[in-house]
Amino acid sequence: MANVAVIGAQWGDEGKGKIVDWLSARADVVVRFQGGHNAGHTLVIDGVTYKLSLLPSGVVRPGKLGIIGNGVVIDPWALVEEIDRLKSQGVKVTPDNLMIAENAALILPLHRELDRFRESSNRVARIGTTGRGIGPAYEDKVGRRALRVIDLKNLDSIGPKIDRLLAHHNALRRGSGIEEVDAAALLRELTEIAPKVLCYAGPVWRKLEQVRLEGRRVLFEGAQGALLDVDHGTYPFVTSSNTVAGEAAPGSGCGPRDIGFVLGIAKAYTTRVGEGPFPTELNDETGERIGRTGAEFGTVTGRKRRCGWFDAVLLRQTAATGGIDGIALTKLDVLDGFDHVQICVGYRLGDRMLDHLPADAHDQVRLEPVYETMQGWSESTRGARSWAQLPALAIKYIRRVEELIAVPVALLSTSPERDDTILVRDPFMGR
Ligand code: GDP
Ligand code: IMO
Ligand code: MG
Repeated sequence: MANVAVIGAQWGDEGKGKIVDWLSARADVVVRFQGGHNAGHTLVIDGVTYKLSLLPSGVVRPGKLGIIGNGVVIDPWALVEEIDRLKSQGVKVTPDNLMIAENAALILPLHRELDRFRESSNRVARIGTTGRGIGPAYEDKVGRRALRVIDLKNLDSIGPKIDRLLAHHNALRRGSGIEEVDAAALLRELTEIAPKVLCYAGPVWRKLEQVRLEGRRVLFEGAQGALLDVDHGTYPFVTSSNTVAGEAAPGSGCGPRDIGFVLGIAKAYTTRVGEGPFPTELNDETGERIGRTGAEFGTVTGRKRRCGWFDAVLLRQTAATGGIDGIALTKLDVLDGFDHVQICVGYRLGDRMLDHLPADAHDQVRLEPVYETMQGWSESTRGARSWAQLPALAIKYIRRVEELIAVPVALLSTSPERDDTILVRDPFMGR
């Protein structure tokens, strides 16, 4: 039996949360390995909706251990708020079923303020971030001045670390006309929140080593999507972490062989929230219809998601960069009732034809999609739980997608409900 890593294969919001929740029935441990509370994962279980940002989507299943790995940037206040919110919905979150990496970097209020300041400044083009401080927190981590979870344990000696951090931030803030951060005030805030977080903190790498030796199964839960990857995405309109499956190893403290089967999640169409290139975007009634039927509004910020047709060129590329072994195709039901559906099979850039996304953002915005048109299906796929319940034309669409992206479909999702899911091939059985 292999472990499984779930990653987004488009621009995020592919339905990772639903799929991770469904698959977690077959796993012992669910691990988040990158991103932070910029993620928004919606689960619907027997009509009850749960919204998760930082907690692994396995947390709602009793008996599963949820882990937040070192590759995640953790806002301690957001974490405590989310735990309290879930508890109020009757979900048990205790140190018995949640562990956070003591070597994870923290998101502080100053990161959120910097993120929002940059986004509201009209001197540079906006990225359209979630305003959660993700980018600034990762910058500090790589800049070796971040505070980490373990530092909350040693507040007596944290002074020099705060000084190093504020030497950077206060210089930036002075230059931007923002009030400087007071070291003593920051220490007071950290002292108050520390015990609420430290009870979950520990050496995650060690726990994962133990889990491996015991032969228990791990499900790695990616956030965002491969096109938001800081290296392989539509840079600079990306998030500040690696979202591809390879990141699951360094982001949680295990080796690359432990990652196992890589399941890429893709919608049967495409969405994007925030700024940046989107070749198949539909600024017309068809795009509006997909958005309406698919309820395409962000979980985190409530922003309207941009919608367009399925882009097989991008999927073939993210299958390569993400190391994807199989696809979970979600929201097939949203395409029900269209006379025709389209799939992007190539791009025109001036007088050239391209079979991939060029790296230059200037070229990315000038791409014209080349479509293959297929007949739609009039029957409903919503709530289908077996292959036999799918209309022949929907199956034809799925088969064509598989052919174009050269990756087989392992799972299908036909509504937000947990069990409206079709297992084609069990990812835990390995490649
Ligand atoms: P994530 O960020 O990848 O976890 O995805 P989100 O939760 O942000 O967005 C996916 C949305 O689609 C959520 O509201 C889900 O409840 C919903 N969803 C997931 N799968 C399906 C599906 O197969 N059909 C429909 N109609 N909705 C789905
Ligand atoms: P889940 O896990 C969709 C997008 C933002 C913005 C860019 C950078 O729910 O799929 P950031 O705040 O990360 O610096 O924003 O990335 N973005 C997401 N889009 N789903 C997400 O997460 C996202 N997380 C970040 O909209 O364009
Ligand atoms: Mg989301």
